[in-house]
Amino acid sequence: KSSVPVRIVEVGPRDGLQNESVKVHPDVKIEFINQLSQTGLRTIEVTSFVSPKWIPQMGDNAEVFSGIKKETGVTYPVLVPNIQGCKLALKVGAEEVAIFIAASEGFSRKNTNCTIQESLNRTKEVIDLAKENNIKVRGYVSCVIGCPYDGKVPPSSVAKLTETLLTMGCYEISLGDTIGVGTKITVHNMLQDVLKTTTSDKLAIHCHDTYGQALVNILVALEQGITVVDAAVAGLGGCPYARGATGNVATEDLVYMLEGMGVNTGVDLKKLIKAGRYISDYIKKVPASKVNNALHSK
Ligand code: HMG
Ligand code: MG
Repeated sequence: KSSVPVRIVEVGPRDGLQNESVKVHPDVKIEFINQLSQTGLRTIEVTSFVSPKWIPQMGDNAEVFSGIKKETGVTYPVLVPNIQGCKLALKVGAEEVAIFIAASEGFSRKNTNCTIQESLNRTKEVIDLAKENNIKVRGYVSCVIGCPYDGKVPPSSVAKLTETLLTMGCYEISLGDTIGVGTKITVHNMLQDVLKTTTSDKLAIHCHDTYGQALVNILVALEQGITVVDAAVAGLGGCPYARGATGNVATEDLVYMLEGMGVNTGVDLKKLIKAGRYISDYIKKVPASKVNNALHSK
């Protein structure tokens, strides 16, 4: 099993910076993404076309998307909440969009101001438009373990939503532990339910590291056959509508763990560490990556 390569979806420029209190200049984001493009990462989520009233940090989405140097072999998806966002993404030439739906009503309301059903209706519109334009749609299900408003989330809700989104036309579903509350057992049980109706090649795992469980939970997902893992360099990240949620699993830590297991990621750890330092220095933070801190001066 350990020889199966893992594809890392780098979400640092989007998930990582959407909640950042320091205003990051679009030129800095462009340089950051260009550095990431040289690391061997094959998927980099660049930005989101959401309402700038809700997420001002992503208000420079078009400028950033158009400003980056797109490398052959690298895909640059963008997050969209509705058809308006999808149209804006198409306008700048996005070739893949990602939609997001919460597995809990409380988070759906706070994050997107609508019910899960309304969110599904918006998703259908996005998928229809994406199909017309021949672009791929990735889906996120968030709050797969717990919700900051509703508490524990039943695995059956996650399974149902995952199945629905795949049937609607998403090519892959990323299962998000948005507030990082999952543990070995709860993540295992959630995946068992999802895998009753879906195969592991249609799934990705997206762990925030609020409780320090992200790597363990990713390992559980790998053991279930999942080979796509979301991460943010320097452990950046968090959602402003998920109180207390900290960053994603750090890409450097994930790469170090996978290399140690003999799993190929195609990512150059040294270059990744440099990119993580670049953005962390700019926002004046020590990287939330143990591997980055251990190796950067070596
Ligand atoms: P709303 O206020 O209900 O929407 O927000 P609205 O349709 O009434 O529009 C309000 C205004 O926003 C209007 O402008 C629209 O034109 C504009 P006004 O007329 O007032 O000037 N608008 C837009 N502008 C640009 N792009 C758009 C867009 N849509 C509307 N796409 C809405 C509803 C969904 C828009 C809002 O709630 C929103 O943008 N939410 C996004 C929140 C967000 O980005 N959260 C973080 C990402 S999710 C996440 O981090 C979790 C994840 O990482 C997985 C995990 O960790 O589990 C993916
Ligand atoms: Mg996230």
